[in-house]
Amino acid sequence: MGVLAGAGIPTARQDAEWLLAHAGGVDRRALYVDPDRIPAEAEVRRYRDLLARRARQEPLQYLLGFEDFHGLRLRVTPDVLIPRPETEALVDWAIALLPVGVPRLVADVGTGSGAVACALAVAAPAVTVVAIDSSLAALEVARDNALALGARVRVVAGDLLGPLPARPPVLDMIVANPPYLPTAIIPSLPREVAEFEPRVALDGGSDGTRTLRRLIIGARAVLKPGGWLVLEIGEDQGGALASLMAAEGFTGIAARRDFRDAERYVAGRLPAPGLPALPAAGARGC
Ligand SMILES: C[S@@+](CC[C@H](N)C(=O)[O-])C[C@H]1O[C@@H](n2cnc3c(N)ncnc32)[C@H](O)[C@@H]1O
Repeated sequence: MGVLAGAGIPTARQDAEWLLAHAGGVDRRALYVDPDRIPAEAEVRRYRDLLARRARQEPLQYLLGFEDFHGLRLRVTPDVLIPRPETEALVDWAIALLPVGVPRLVADVGTGSGAVACALAVAAPAVTVVAIDSSLAALEVARDNALALGARVRVVAGDLLGPLPARPPVLDMIVANPPYLPTAIIPSLPREVAEFEPRVALDGGSDGTRTLRRLIIGARAVLKPGGWLVLEIGEDQGGALASLMAAEGFTGIAARRDFRDAERYVAGRLPAPGLPALPAAGARGC
């Protein structure tokens, strides 16, 4: 049994291939093109070191230094959450709500690697994204990703919506995948997550909604009339958060499910003159 299989890594063979290719500075496909190639000694040492780290459950993406998200290759480091495939649906919903080709200003709050901001800006080139995070180390990664992709993203350090002007409000949309896990469940998560991903990216307080609630309560002040709030949330949080959005004056509130059929996204918009009257809160899935 190999080192990774012995350590209980379910994707042992794939991971070993990725790490071998990474140690040799080649694409994974190269392993198949030239299977008889003898690696140099330094390469073997690098590979062994990477295998040992992976066997200790260090996430593959941190060892490789990248993750693919929404068709983009993004740099990731242990300072940022590894972007998840579920978050691609958040990006798709946000894109669908933005009028095509019209300049818009969007804030990605809690940007981490800049995954959401970059994916939005690349898919909707008329949009400018302000990418906010309280972690300066994360913002460096987000800035690198935006530069490498030529994405129209400005990174700003701060607490949630704090860096944004309120009078007059300037934003057409807030999109966010904030920390939403209840504190108590974090120790029971897989070691890869609990020990290696940044705590500030995971911990949403006692019931997981602390940051989401602050965001919903602050959103009205910085969104223009008709502006959208589009959120990724934890399972079982949709009802309470939709009610809070309604109480804060949002309308047309709807929820969506992820590919595992869990309710994981909620969106609504501020009323504006000329907008059709939309059903208010609680009307999930509308
Ligand atoms: C769940 S991660 C999401 C990262 C990225 N948007 C993604 O989807 O991959 C949440 C991010 O929110 C940031 N964050 C947590 N609390 C914050 C706060 N009060 N103000 C700004 N950013 C915050 C964390 O540093 C982390 O990068």
